[in-house]
Amino acid sequence: MTLTAVPSQTLLNPILEIAGGRSLRGELGVSGAKNSALVLMAACLLTRDQIRLRNVPPLTDITAMGEMLASLGGRVVRKGDCLELDGDHINNSTAPYELVNSLRASFFCIGPLLARTGMAKVPMPGGCQIGSRPVVEHVRGLKAMGAQVTIEHGVVQAVVPGRSHRLKGGRIHLDCPSVGATETLMMAAALADGETVIENAALEPEVVDLAGLLIAMGARIRGAGTPTITVVGVDRLHGADYTVIPDRIEAGTFLLAAAITRSELRVAPLIPEHLGAVLTKLEEAGCRLEHDGIGTIIEARDIQAVDLRTQPFPGFPTDLQAPFMSLLATAQGTSVITENIFENRMQHVAELQRMGAAIRLQGNTAFIEGVSRLSGAPVQGTDLRASAAMVLAGLAAEGITTVRGLEYLDRGYANLEAKLASVGARLQRVSANSQLLQAA
Ligand code: UD1
Repeated sequence: MTLTAVPSQTLLNPILEIAGGRSLRGELGVSGAKNSALVLMAACLLTRDQIRLRNVPPLTDITAMGEMLASLGGRVVRKGDCLELDGDHINNSTAPYELVNSLRASFFCIGPLLARTGMAKVPMPGGCQIGSRPVVEHVRGLKAMGAQVTIEHGVVQAVVPGRSHRLKGGRIHLDCPSVGATETLMMAAALADGETVIENAALEPEVVDLAGLLIAMGARIRGAGTPTITVVGVDRLHGADYTVIPDRIEAGTFLLAAAITRSELRVAPLIPEHLGAVLTKLEEAGCRLEHDGIGTIIEARDIQAVDLRTQPFPGFPTDLQAPFMSLLATAQGTSVITENIFENRMQHVAELQRMGAAIRLQGNTAFIEGVSRLSGAPVQGTDLRASAAMVLAGLAAEGITTVRGLEYLDRGYANLEAKLASVGARLQRVSANSQLLQAA
């Protein structure tokens, strides 16, 4: 495997130093969607032919998924923003614990691995900072397709009985519209015998993107993006050349960077339908938005309080809850945010409070009374999107903010410092003991 590590990882004990309070101007480029790219990479296990994925962001999570595929016998080569994936020599059906533990999405390999080889041994991913994150829906669906699944000593072992080692189509009703379960089961069903119907499927754009790749590989899938997805299994899938959709969460984070600094920015490429609920809330908060067919120009002056609740797509995405809270911490009036997807996704509240935000937390509901100015402080990002929330708060705050926990940021934002610096932000990655920036 020749995936290179992300270069900005080389500093010892790095922190991000931000001199806040500057307005931004210009254009921010959006990379390919991390969550799409990860699952599209797993789909390469379904064929012996080469898959070329374009617009794949340089992120540590992508490197980790490459390592997972390599551990199963796959070959992954990066050429610029392209990945060439070769699943011809898949010779191992056992995923290593360290990789599943460090990258939850690598559990989703269980579906294609089982479909391709007739067996898979994948450690349970366990919980993470934001919640317990069960995989029962994935397992229940695979059982409905004829797999025999046992869970022992923290490892999910799945076997397809019979001589053909081929999963059978079935009707699966998901208890909750899990993105990962929908993706796992779509991949498994693509090579199964007969028709699989997934009901109460996730509607997220990443599910539609996966269907796009699978169809390009010769799969027969209809209904992706609706609650009922039908997959008619085929005997074999072939290679494909496919471009990953733009990252809607990165795009949303950039729109929020403009809003929190009361600036004007163009964010591109951005597909408005992928961010409907977020764009609506930004407009409700007082931002002016203009879509030009490829990107979106956002202009922000006064920000008003708004209420929001996280929901599965097309509702407001949980992954932008923390970043949006940073904005509302600076709004006029009191906002209410309710987190409905993950049970422990409010850890950024305490960090925002350290920066002068006035937030009261009751269970998974935050009452945010906007303040006129946040003040720079040392803060800790506790997960990927909480870290992004800290960066946004730092851009708006008076004085210097130092953000720790950059290993999370590097999982989901490609070249974040360089991108933000190009529109006028003052920020740099330094070793924890060498602070350099002066307040603006
Ligand atoms: C994906 C995204 C993640 C995003 C999340 C929700 C990837 C790699 N990650 O994660 O960034 O925050 O969607 O939009 O695409 N659930 C169950 N049982 C299950 C599976 C899930 O109860 O078997 C619940 C979860 O606890 C959670 C909800 O369903 O409350 C959504 O989880 P899910 O859609 O599965 O998230 P992921 O696919 O893991």
